[in-house]
Amino acid sequence: MAKKIVLITGVTRGLGRAMVDEFVRLGHTVLGCGRSEAVIEQLRRQAGPPHDFATVDVASDDEVKAWASRLLSLHGPPDLVLNNAGVINRNAPLWEISAREFSQVIDVNVKGMANVIRHFVPEMVRRKRGIIVNFSSGWGRTTDAGVAPYCATKWAIEGLTQALAQELPPGLAAVPFNPGIINADMLRSSFGSSASGYPVPEEWAKVTVPFLLKLGPADNGKPLTAPVRGAND
Ligand SMILES: NC(=O)c1ccc[n+]([C@@H]2O[C@H](COP(=O)([O-])OP(=O)(O)OC[C@H]3O[C@@H](n4cnc5c(N)ncnc54)[C@H](OP(=O)(O)O)[C@@H]3O)[C@@H](O)[C@H]2O)c1
Repeated sequence: MAKKIVLITGVTRGLGRAMVDEFVRLGHTVLGCGRSEAVIEQLRRQAGPPHDFATVDVASDDEVKAWASRLLSLHGPPDLVLNNAGVINRNAPLWEISAREFSQVIDVNVKGMANVIRHFVPEMVRRKRGIIVNFSSGWGRTTDAGVAPYCATKWAIEGLTQALAQELPPGLAAVPFNPGIINADMLRSSFGSSASGYPVPEEWAKVTVPFLLKLGPADNGKPLTAPVRGAND
């Protein structure tokens, strides 16, 4: 398989961190971001060039713009964009979530994804090639009590991605992607101790990275789910 340039947001923990190791192991170039400076520095030391890790808050359009401008001039447009960065509200009924917390979930999960698309996709369109995978959730297709703000963002991502798919020219694809249920920090926040019954990110990445590498223009607009145990329940 040809070596790809893979852009991943949210590489400091969980699924993003596990995907970095797997893409690097398979010989692809990873361009990643997250907010935790110490982990970004550690990734830089561990992976080395041509991989590139930066401290970027995807909720800041200015930070994403500067990040995109630097990466596009160094590497050209990415082949695969994994909009993975996300946050979840603390478990609580909607009426107990402050306006500030509600905004934070929207700013990262929805506006952050749009910021990345705004600054990276024009060059992909110009080159007429590239796949955009927007991380949704089972809670982008169903709902549960206690996670209304998160559900609102993941349902938004499903709609945003379907509309984007209708806008892209031939050669590109955008897909909303449900990664399944994985024992990462985010799951522990909503599931508590029962999170331990689910696969860890490293196991998940071993099967999911090859699945993501096979996506092509024919997948444009298809709501997809990771090929892992329980993801379709
Ligand atoms: N785990 C699951 O079972 C599950 C299920 C369905 C969907 N998902 C989705 O899969 C994705 C990854 O989830 P996860 O479980 O790996 O979550 P996680 O363990 O909480 O990791 C989230 C990652 O996103 C980064 N991030 C958060 N806010 C950011 C921001 N403003 N700018 C840049 N990076 C940011 C975090 O890094 P910093 O804190 O360093 O910024 C971290 O690296 C999310 O979109 C999530 O909604 C997960």
